[in-house]
Amino acid sequence: MNENRGRFLTIEGIEGVGKSTQVARLSQALSERGIDHVVTREPGGTPLAERIREILLNCRDEALPPVAELLLMFAARSVHVNNHVDPNLKAGRWVVCDRFIDATYAYQGGGRRLGVESIRQLEAMVLGARRPDLTLLLDAPVEQSLQRARQRNAGAAADRFESERVEFFERVRDAYHARAAAEPDRIAVIDAAQSADAVAADILTMLEGRAWIS
Ligand code: TMP
Repeated sequence: MNENRGRFLTIEGIEGVGKSTQVARLSQALSERGIDHVVTREPGGTPLAERIREILLNCRDEALPPVAELLLMFAARSVHVNNHVDPNLKAGRWVVCDRFIDATYAYQGGGRRLGVESIRQLEAMVLGARRPDLTLLLDAPVEQSLQRARQRNAGAAADRFESERVEFFERVRDAYHARAAAEPDRIAVIDAAQSADAVAADILTMLEGRAWIS
C-alpha cells in the first residue's frame, strides 16, 4: 500500500444517534491537529451521486422496489468512490465518510430483508478490495434515537427511511451489531446514548489508541 495514502474512516448508526454532530466534531479535531482531510457522505458526496441520493430519499410518486434501492445505493457508491474517495486517499488526505458499505448491509440487508449474499456480490463488483480503515458505529437504543431524530426534524417532512417503523430500525441496528461482531478490528462500537461530549472524547481516545492522532 502507498505509504502516503490517507486514512479512510466511516461513521455509521441509525437515524438520531448524533452522527452529523460527531462528524463535524471529528473534522474540527483533525483540523486542529493539522490533518488534511475531506468530509463526505453516502449516498451522495459528488454532484452526480447527490442526484441519486435525491431519488433514494425522496422519490414518492412511484414505488422504488428494494432491489432497485440496493442497486441505486451501489450506483451512487461507485460514482463516489471513483470520483471522490479514491483521488483524495491517493493524494494523502483522510476521508471521513458519513455512512458507507456497512449501511447497505444494515438498511438493505437487515431493514429491507435482502440478506447478505446479493450485497456481497455487489460489494465485490463495486468496491473490489477497498474497505474503510476504521468504522465508528454509534450505537444507542432505537426508541431513544428515533425520538432524537424526530425532535431534530420537527416540522420537516420525513424522508423514505425516516418514515419507516420502529421494527425496521431494530432490524437495522441488529444488522449493524452483526457486522461489528464479525469485524471487531475494523468496526468500533461507541456508546451514543452518552452526551455528545463523551461520544466525541471516546472517538478521539479510539484514534489515539491506534496512534493515528496524538
Ligand atoms: P442520512 O445521511 O441523512 O442518514 O440519510 C441517508 C439515508 O440513507 C439513511 O436513512 C440510511 C440510508 N442508507 C441506506 O439505506 N443504505 C446505504 O447504503 C446508505 C449509505 C444509506
